[in-house]
Amino acid sequence: MNIAIIGTGYVGLTTGVCLASKGHQVTCVDLDQEKINMINSGTPPIFEEGMKELLEEVISAGLLIATIDSENAIKHAEIIFLCVGTPSKDDGSINLEYLKKAANTIAEKAGNHKIVVIKSTVVPGTTMNAVKPILDASGINHGLCMNPEFLKEGAAIKDFLEGDRVVLGVTDKETETIMRELYKDFPQQLFITNPTTAEMIKYANNSLLATKISFANELGNLCKKLGIDSYEVMDGVGLDKRLSRQFLNCGAGFGGSCFPKDVKAIISKGLEEGEGMKLLKTVIEVNNEQPVKMIKLLEKHANPVNKKIGILGLAFKQGTDDVREAPSIAIINELLKMNSDITVYDPEAMSNAKKIFSDKIKYAESARECANKSDAILILTGWDEFRKPELYSNKIVIDGRRIKEAEQNAKIYEGICW
Ligand code: UGA
Repeated sequence: MNIAIIGTGYVGLTTGVCLASKGHQVTCVDLDQEKINMINSGTPPIFEEGMKELLEEVISAGLLIATIDSENAIKHAEIIFLCVGTPSKDDGSINLEYLKKAANTIAEKAGNHKIVVIKSTVVPGTTMNAVKPILDASGINHGLCMNPEFLKEGAAIKDFLEGDRVVLGVTDKETETIMRELYKDFPQQLFITNPTTAEMIKYANNSLLATKISFANELGNLCKKLGIDSYEVMDGVGLDKRLSRQFLNCGAGFGGSCFPKDVKAIISKGLEEGEGMKLLKTVIEVNNEQPVKMIKLLEKHANPVNKKIGILGLAFKQGTDDVREAPSIAIINELLKMNSDITVYDPEAMSNAKKIFSDKIKYAESARECANKSDAILILTGWDEFRKPELYSNKIVIDGRRIKEAEQNAKIYEGICW
């Protein structure tokens, strides 16, 4: 099938590459010419496991091209995926500016019948109340599908190709048939519903995962006080199949472009509807407290004022270069207020961190250099290369990611919840 993908962030690019890998003809559209050039030359603009190989494969097979020419891409596509960003506004509510703009472009350029698929994460009601009226007004014959993504950064390709299910919220039977055809070579179970339910499934999914983490953090904080191993507790709890062990690792807190933003957006939508959203507000509160705890632990063992502090890990999790809403950002900002002398290292996220902190902090070339230049070290991302005991010889180590190897050689070792 002929597919256009509007927006080439990690969701758009993953969608494009994976659909092309099943033989569909994909055109990726973005406003950023530099990104387009990179994609066409087989270089993914983002770091994502397996992406480069698959991108090269589909490009050389002639199954994927990237362009800034949205008009041409839209005209020739049977199915148009909207994968544009839906950032948070200052009050936590969702900003639909880019989505509406993309819908307007389709309305103007589409011509004949199109299936428009919303992949961007949007609050319940958006597809029917914000996108549909724009397409209806244009008079183009169209079907709509809300097809939420469940991609973890760093495992996006695998999640797309082999995830647990594909949710398709469709407006009509014809759209359902075409979407079933599109996904026919994927092994996942298809879950067919309406667009608004599909939108809510996405928020329910991310909110529940975030809730599990905040639950694990709250209990982890208590376990530490009681001298109980929080990870062992969750190993025991996780054996209950109704609960599962996943997303019960306590630590420095969740970050990234999804959990914080999505939980805040659904809280905001709930408040708009007169619901208190007490549980999810607390999920955010508990999460915001974890970085503060890291600083408090540091202060317990070493006064950060004018001290050499090493930060191992800037990305919001291992396997990605993404630093959005990462605990490292809040912690570095706090340490900067205390005039700490900060040296950081992350195997993938250095250039993204430089965009935020420029010359306010120092950048090491390796974990060893970072450790050597520091009196105290905070571990904020669980990269495997941080699991070397020798890095921590004679250092004060505050661990936010359960890198227990650090304990062996450290002068002082303290974990956030253990
Ligand atoms: C998350 C979801 O897992 C995906 O299903 C979803 O599609 C995606 O958001 C999205 O909405 O786009 P992602 O943000 O890439 O994926 O990362 P996760 O692996 O879910 O981790 C999120 C955060 O939770 C990280 O900061 C991680 O360190 C933290 N986390 C995760 C914990 O603190 N403890 C855990 O047990 C698991």
